[in-house]
Amino acid sequence: MTLDTAMLHLHNFLRWVILILLLVALVKSISGMSGNKPYTSGDRKLGAFLMISCHIMLLIGLYQLLAGRYGILTTTLPEGTSFMKDKFYRFFWLEHPLMMFIAIMLITIGRGSFRKPISDRAKHKRTFWFFFIALILILAAVPWPFREIVARPLFPGMPHINAPG
Ligand code: HEM
Repeated sequence: MTLDTAMLHLHNFLRWVILILLLVALVKSISGMSGNKPYTSGDRKLGAFLMISCHIMLLIGLYQLLAGRYGILTTTLPEGTSFMKDKFYRFFWLEHPLMMFIAIMLITIGRGSFRKPISDRAKHKRTFWFFFIALILILAAVPWPFREIVARPLFPGMPHINAPG
């Protein structure tokens, strides 16, 4: 297995880790808000795992964006074409990285809610909104198998669905 393939598989798999942690964190923050529950060290650890997974994802994503099989440094577009006019490259070089970067920043900021000098209920509420908006962005920017042109498999190693062109 090449480095590119290993990175791609890890990137694909980590998506599920992030989505599951994000959903659990959202459910916990909703129950924390509505039940007026304390913000526990368990909540803090969950946020830390989520943030670390996202930061690993960011590093892998940056590798792919620059040096992966469709990376900016490893791809030569035909003379005179702009990546902005190509739906495949516009997605993988701009839309996907930008939306995911914003989502990861929101998760990083939201996860820091426990440091704020506010009530536990307010911490849950703040966490909820940052994580919720991040979830929407992630769901919108994942190359799901049902998407046109950029479709990708649900799990690592499943047949590749689309290539540029
Ligand atoms: C929560 C954050 C992210 C999620 C959930 C996510 C999800 C995914 C998924 C599911 C794929 C398809 C994998 C496959 O074909 O098996 C993908 C591909 C890709 N992602 Fe991300 N991604 C995230 C963040 C990022 C970031 C921050 C960047 C860039 C800085 C990035 C760059 C890429 C690139 C370039 C590809 C195409 C790789 C290739 O086909 O060789 N991703 N991403």
